Amino acid sequence: MRETFRAMLVLVAVLFFGAAEFCSGRNTSFSCIEKERKALLKFKLCFHDPSHMLSSWKSNDCCEWRGVGCDKNNGYVISLQLRGSVFANQRPQLYLIDDVEEVGSSLLKLRYLKHLDLSNNNFSGNLIPPSFGLMKQLRYLNLSYAQFGGRIPTELGNLTRLHVLDLSSYYYGELKVDDDIQWISHLSSLQRLDMSGVNLSHASSNLFQLKSIDLSDNQLNGSIPDSIGQLSKLESMDLSENQLRSIPDSIGQLSELEGMDLSENQLRSIPDSIGQLFKLRIMYLYENHLRSIPDSIGQLSKLEIMDLSENQLRSIPDSIGQLSKLERIFLSSNQFRIGFPKWLQLPKTIKTVDLSNASISSPLPENIGHMMPMLEEVYLANNLMKGSIPKSLCNLKYLAILDLSNNMLYGNIPKSLCNSKSLGYLDLSNNMLSGSIPNCWRNDQSFFFIDLSSNNLSGLFPSTMVQLSSLSLLHLNNNSLHKGLHVALKNFTSLLVLDLGENKFSGNLTSIVRGEISNHSLKVLRLRKNLVSGYIPLELCSFSHMQILDLADNHLTGSIPPCFGKFPIMVNATQLIHDLYGGYWDEAPLMEVVKGRYLEYKRLTLRLEISIDLSSNNLIGSIPEELILLKDLHNLNLSWNHLSGKIPEKLGQMENLESLDFSKNGLSGMIPNSMSSLTKLSHLNLSYNNLSGLIPTGYQLQTLEDPTMYAGNPQLCGVPLLNKCSNDTLPPTTANFKDNDEGALKRMWFYIVVLLGFATGFWGVVGTLIFVKNWRYAYFQWVDDVQHWILVVITLKVSCFKKMFNGNKDDQ
Ligand SMILES: *[C@@H]1O[C@H](CO)[C@@H](O)[C@H](O)[C@H]1NC(C)=O
Ligand SMILES: *[C@@H]1O[C@H](CO)[C@@H](O)[C@H](O)[C@H]1NC(C)=O
Ligand SMILES: *[C@@H]1O[C@H](CO)[C@@H](O)[C@H](O)[C@H]1NC(C)=O
Ligand SMILES: *[C@@H]1O[C@H](CO)[C@@H](O)[C@H](O)[C@H]1NC(C)=O
Ligand SMILES: *[C@@H]1O[C@H](CO)[C@@H](O)[C@H](O)[C@H]1NC(C)=O
Ligand SMILES: *[C@@H]1O[C@H](CO)[C@@H](O)[C@H](O)[C@H]1NC(C)=O
Ligand SMILES: *[C@@H]1O[C@H](CO)[C@@H](O)[C@H](O)[C@H]1NC(C)=O
Ligand SMILES: *[C@@H]1O[C@H](CO)[C@@H](O)[C@H](O)[C@H]1NC(C)=O
Ligand SMILES: *[C@@H]1O[C@H](CO)[C@@H](O)[C@H](O)[C@H]1NC(C)=O
Ligand SMILES: *[C@@H]1O[C@H](CO)[C@@H](O)[C@H](O)[C@H]1NC(C)=O
Ligand SMILES: *[C@@H]1O[C@H](CO)[C@@H](O)[C@H](O)[C@H]1NC(C)=O
Ligand SMILES: *[C@@H]1O[C@H](CO)[C@@H](O)[C@H](O)[C@H]1NC(C)=O
Repeated sequence: MRETFRAMLVLVAVLFFGAAEFCSGRNTSFSCIEKERKALLKFKLCFHDPSHMLSSWKSNDCCEWRGVGCDKNNGYVISLQLRGSVFANQRPQLYLIDDVEEVGSSLLKLRYLKHLDLSNNNFSGNLIPPSFGLMKQLRYLNLSYAQFGGRIPTELGNLTRLHVLDLSSYYYGELKVDDDIQWISHLSSLQRLDMSGVNLSHASSNLFQLKSIDLSDNQLNGSIPDSIGQLSKLESMDLSENQLRSIPDSIGQLSELEGMDLSENQLRSIPDSIGQLFKLRIMYLYENHLRSIPDSIGQLSKLEIMDLSENQLRSIPDSIGQLSKLERIFLSSNQFRIGFPKWLQLPKTIKTVDLSNASISSPLPENIGHMMPMLEEVYLANNLMKGSIPKSLCNLKYLAILDLSNNMLYGNIPKSLCNSKSLGYLDLSNNMLSGSIPNCWRNDQSFFFIDLSSNNLSGLFPSTMVQLSSLSLLHLNNNSLHKGLHVALKNFTSLLVLDLGENKFSGNLTSIVRGEISNHSLKVLRLRKNLVSGYIPLELCSFSHMQILDLADNHLTGSIPPCFGKFPIMVNATQLIHDLYGGYWDEAPLMEVVKGRYLEYKRLTLRLEISIDLSSNNLIGSIPEELILLKDLHNLNLSWNHLSGKIPEKLGQMENLESLDFSKNGLSGMIPNSMSSLTKLSHLNLSYNNLSGLIPTGYQLQTLEDPTMYAGNPQLCGVPLLNKCSNDTLPPTTANFKDNDEGALKRMWFYIVVLLGFATGFWGVVGTLIFVKNWRYAYFQWVDDVQHWILVVITLKVSCFKKMFNGNKDDQ
């Protein structure tokens, strides 16, 4: 009986202490794995340890030993941090006393080891054990300053999961790399490599067979090493996005070079020897500080694409006319002083000319079409050009893009435009063009974008434009177009944006919006500041994609149709956002790398704005109750009309309103309390109506303190007016405000372009210069010898390159 009792007691104690141990310390059910413990003890025996770094390596639980880290879930050793200290007494702490292979074989037993740091110890000039290459699970390996010596084993190339490899040493040449440096390129996950002090001389010769290097975005500083010229097999070289200041003469020795990207550096000049690159086809030098280009450039007889935009060039050598293969030249954002015709002696092969924002003042030569018959893209925006548009330009067979905006061109728009079958993008905005718009458009033309805004054009709306079956964006605003607008919107089958604002159009709105329209694509209709009259036709409500409706400043009469409360995008913009992400967002980055960079964002972009503006008309009746359904409307302007009745009681439901203007009408009654819950409202104007009673207080309205927004309503009282309220005007309840923080969703999509998809679709056809850079970003330590450093990085990059083409993209 007693025995049984004692036995039970022991059992309980065991259970108790067992449990106590289980619950204490690390919350793990696992302690050190015995097999691993033995391996660590074997490792310890390899070293002399005068500073007692491994003195705690005795107890049963090896996970508690100094420098040992275990996986919390299973107890396996995952890290060994045995970094010596150079500071203690200027000596490393562990001294190898056994065969170095013993170190390797004991560590191999730690099958889950990911992090190994043996830096600053003393391995007495021994080789790095090749068996380290079998620890395939390693992510971090630091063997720096550990006095390893001799040749680095190529087996390390098997550590494909390695993120960090540090093999630096005190004395140059302690460690060296054989002729075969290819093993480095197998380290496909490597993000950081440090081989300072490693002798790479042997490897170099091998690397000079290299065909392609990419060192873009690598924080390269100073000059490109002279030895670059020795890479005689090089076909493509990308050193863009660094801080390089000069190019050595030896670059001329790269006789096989076909592609060179030195863009986005700080280069100030180009050596004459560049003319020796006889095979060069593509040359990118944009965004540098170049002031001149050597004459020898004319010798680049294979050159097809040259981008020198965003430099400080004042002239271009005449020899450029000798480039018999040149197809695309980009010279935008420079400061040319010389007259236009002189240096536009480009070869007949030229397809793209970008001279936008380049201080050009001479007029376009009349015979430009004959001088450059192959032209596809002409960018001349933002210059000081005078004169008229040469007719011969419009007759070019392949011309797809013509941008002459922001100049001082005068004269008529040539009728020959109507003959062009290739032209898709036409921007003549912000000039002084006059006369009428040609009216001879045909359905076999390819226009998708036409911008003739801000000129001095007069005459009628060119009704034949409805024939342009791919036209998506039409801007004719800010001209003097006049007479009746006899155009049926529904005939413009693919129109997204129609801007006819700031003209002198008259006539009846009903005649524009004629007949039933279902699922028409139109998103933006702008007729602002014209002489349009008539009622607002109910048919307008059937534009189911309407986002911006601006009919302000006309002579419209009648009332606001209640069906305005049904514009689907204004009710719920979720679908629109979905379209943006799902449909176009992915393609957006393409736009950035198409050359002529700032252009493509110009008018194709449209802020995601959702707005109704009917101000300054003669509208009567009350504000339809139905408008409160437009929960995603940002801007509502009904000011300067003759509206009467009350403000809809539940206006506060239009939770995305940012701007609301009902001023200069005949509205009466009280301001609804619900308005205090319009948390995004930043602009409010209710002045000059007949509103009465207490101004509601609460959340957002209190931040809008300017009393003028309530001016001209003698019967309004309360803050911020000086008028105090008498008791009978007090409403039964105080402001009902809800703190709608959730509603403060960041509308990052607010600025996203709506029409990008159409633009990229177009570029997909015409834009041939897409230069996709998809390298993973890697940061490499500067090695004492730049040349060697470059060689190592080259090897790595080449491996990335190969991988990319195998469709095996490394997404970090
Ligand atoms: C142990 O568990 C407690 C509570 O479950 C937790 O707060 C603590 O962070 C854990 N400790 C470790 C080392 O995981
Ligand atoms: C490393 O050890 C070797 C031989 O054991 C010795 O000659 C050398 O001086 C040591 N290095 C340092 C920095 O202590
Ligand atoms: C490797 O160890 C050395 C010396 O302990 C240290 O200075 C260096 O930062 C480490 N390298 C990396 C890449 O962590
Ligand atoms: C990788 O390891 C295998 C054995 O697993 C070996 O045969 C091969 O040489 C190693 N590769 C490199 C590059 O070291
Ligand atoms: C680097 O290695 C090469 C080839 O082994 C050798 O000729 C050269 O002397 C070494 N450089 C140094 C500084 O040890
Ligand atoms: C480039 O080098 C200069 C001098 O060698 C140095 O002052 C500068 O900080 C370096 N810039 C970068 C970004 O490393
Ligand atoms: C036009 O060029 C100047 C430099 O010549 C530059 O500062 C400016 O940003 C450029 N403008 C545009 C719109 O690219
Ligand atoms: C606009 O064109 C008209 C003739 O159509 C002309 O009288 C007027 O001077 C022009 N205005 C400007 C600013 O060029
Ligand atoms: C508009 O289209 C209708 C047929 O849908 C056609 O009858 C009418 O003539 C067209 N109007 C114009 C101006 O092209
Ligand atoms: C506008 O046109 C419609 C139909 O063509 C007509 O019924 C209406 O009376 C016109 N309105 C005005 C103000 O002329
Ligand atoms: C808006 O429409 C989406 C579906 O397109 C729906 O999931 C969401 O609930 C709607 N939002 C509101 C406020 O009705
Ligand atoms: C307003 O009501 C308060 C009590 O709520 C009262 O003391 C005051 O005399 C009233 N003033 C007027 C002008 O009726």
